[in-house]
Amino acid sequence: MAYEREQAIREFRRWSAGYDRSILQKLLFGPAHRAMIARIQHHFGDRPTSILDVGCGTGVFATLIRGILPRATVWGVDLVADMLAGGRERWRALGGRAAPIQADSERLPFPAGVFDVVACANSFHHYPHQERAVAEMHRVLKPGGKLLLVDGYRDIPWGWFIYDLCVAAIEGDVRHVSARGARDLLDQAGFVNVNQNVHGMLAPFLLTEGAADPPAGLRVPRFRDAVAAAAPG
Ligand SMILES: C[S@@+](CC[C@H](N)C(=O)[O-])C[C@H]1O[C@@H](n2cnc3c(N)ncnc32)[C@H](O)[C@@H]1O
Repeated sequence: MAYEREQAIREFRRWSAGYDRSILQKLLFGPAHRAMIARIQHHFGDRPTSILDVGCGTGVFATLIRGILPRATVWGVDLVADMLAGGRERWRALGGRAAPIQADSERLPFPAGVFDVVACANSFHHYPHQERAVAEMHRVLKPGGKLLLVDGYRDIPWGWFIYDLCVAAIEGDVRHVSARGARDLLDQAGFVNVNQNVHGMLAPFLLTEGAADPPAGLRVPRFRDAVAAAAPG
C-alpha cells in the first residue's frame, strides 16, 4: 500500500514527546546534521546565509546551525504540529533569526528564489510524492543555491536491512530512495552539479547535494546534453 501523509502525522504525533531522547539522535540525526553543516560551511563560510530546514522536527538542527553559524537565518517547516510544539522553547531561544512554520514539503509556503540553502534531514522517506517535494525545494532556492538532502542509505546490504526491512516494519511503506533514484530526482527538478557521499557505519546515510540552476550565462552544459546537441541531424 502506498505511504500517505496521514501515516507520518500519526507516527510523529506519537513520537513527538520522546523524540529528543531517542537513541537515533546519537546514531543518525546528530551525525547527519554535522555533515550538512560542514557542507554549508564549505559553500558559504560564515557569511549570512538563509537556510530552510524541511521536515525540521523539534528544531535540533536549527539550534546547531545557529550555534556554529550565528549569522545564518533559519526557517523550519514541518507537517506535524506536535513536532513543532516539542521544539517551541528551542525556537524561542533562537530569537528573531529562526522560525518554524507548519507546512507540507510538497507545498512550501515561500516565494520563489529566496533561500541560499534548503536542507532536509531524515525526513524525505516520508514524502508520498518525492518529486513534488524536490521541485518545491528547487523553486524556493536562489539561483546557485544548494540543496542538501540526507536520508538512510539502503544500497548496501546492512543499509537495506536497517531501512527497507526494520524501519519499514515500524513506519510502513516509506521510501528510502537509492543513490541513483535521488540523483534522478534532482536531475529532473533541474539541479546541477549533483554529488553524493555516504557517511556513518552503524546507521549509514546518504548526503545528496545539488545546486539550483545558475543563470543561463554561467551554466556548464551537462555532458549528455552537449553530446546530444553536437550529434548530426
Ligand atoms: C525523523 S524526523 C527528522 C526531524 C529532523 N529533520 C531531524 O533530523 O531531527 C522526520 C520529520 O519529518 C516530518 N515530516 C514527515 N512528512 C512530512 C512532510 N510531508 N512535510 C514536512 N515534514 C514532514 C515529520 O513530522 C518529522 O518531524
